[in-house]
Amino acid sequence: MPGFELFGEEERQAINEIFDSAGGIVFAHGFDAMRNGSYKVREFERDFAAKVGVKHAQAVSSGTAALKVGLQSLGVGPGDEVITQAFTFVATVEAIRETGATPVVVDVNDTLNMDPEAFRAAITQKTKVVLPVHMMGECAELDEIMAIAKEHNILVMEDAAQALGASYFGRYAGTIGAVGAYSTDAGKSLNTGEGGLVVTNDEQRYVLARGLHDHGHEYSKTKGRGEESAICFGFNFRMTEMQGAVGIAQLKKLDFIVSRQRENKAKLMQRLQALPVTFRRSPDPTGDLGDTIVFYLPNRDLTDKFVAAMRAKGLGTKNLPDAIGWHFAKHWPHIMNGNARYEGKCDSSWMKSADLLERSVAIPVMVKMDDARIEHVASTLIAVGREVL
Ligand SMILES: Cc1ncc(COP(=O)(O)O)c(C=O)c1O
Repeated sequence: MPGFELFGEEERQAINEIFDSAGGIVFAHGFDAMRNGSYKVREFERDFAAKVGVKHAQAVSSGTAALKVGLQSLGVGPGDEVITQAFTFVATVEAIRETGATPVVVDVNDTLNMDPEAFRAAITQKTKVVLPVHMMGECAELDEIMAIAKEHNILVMEDAAQALGASYFGRYAGTIGAVGAYSTDAGKSLNTGEGGLVVTNDEQRYVLARGLHDHGHEYSKTKGRGEESAICFGFNFRMTEMQGAVGIAQLKKLDFIVSRQRENKAKLMQRLQALPVTFRRSPDPTGDLGDTIVFYLPNRDLTDKFVAAMRAKGLGTKNLPDAIGWHFAKHWPHIMNGNARYEGKCDSSWMKSADLLERSVAIPVMVKMDDARIEHVASTLIAVGREVL
């Protein structure tokens, strides 16, 4: 997953360029006479759109901002309902609330992503958008979700924060619905410290997203920033030139990151067939980002024992179970209060998800794992399996 593993001379050089030859202009807009034609954020947006195969990419200050701006670019606001899944990072539901809409949170299935039938069952007259999340590098069952959405005239937006570089039957995660949101925070495929992108093929939605992320600015080709008018009520979710510069350098490494992760995951998976566990179901294994291996143990007690034994041998997990509190709606009464569906009911609302998530163990797969490390991780997990299962 993490682009940070590959930080190097290219990122350093990209930042230096801003000071050496672009007048030290670290703001993405204006100062045209001083910056020597250097617009890093714009270049990052163009490169990113070309890479994932969409018409428009709007860089923003975080993945959370990308979600909010993306939802608002689809017209989401007070009175609407947005359906998302119980297993996601807390930001997905925060962003829905930030638009004034009501989050409707449905169970995941054994893919650990949105259960299409749970989505169908949650649709009401107020449902405006469905927001599947591609968790831990694997895409949700988009064919099914898109078909149900079409039947009910619901827009699809993808939260691809954890799947930048993954694909679904040949198309990049995040580019299949009407709008996609990515994060480039410190734990993601590309790392710009903080950052995010909203992508779409729709010109009008893009223009609105651009305004929403920057106080409503119209982005006129003829007027200066000060004379521009506002096309909408916006906010400041701008990315800086330093983030844009690092993003350009990181993007060039994406193919390498993804291919190494996939290779390392394949090697680990081959060895882990010796473990008596059930692996997470993948709708399209060829498109997997390859940054995580998830398996289910038979019950919670054995899961606790397994993870304790892993820790005792120096192996950690990735979010499941160590950061489950940030990734499972059961733990978010602070967000659900005031939401009649869930207020006081977080513990009992997502039993199917709870059963899966509380028996899940997620193992990180790194870009820079060499064969010795892969063998160490695999043999340790197998030894833990023998000890506990
Ligand atoms: C699924 C998901 N959505 C949204 C976000 C928010 O991204 P950011 O940290 O860039 O705000 C994250 C971050 O971890 C995430 O995992």
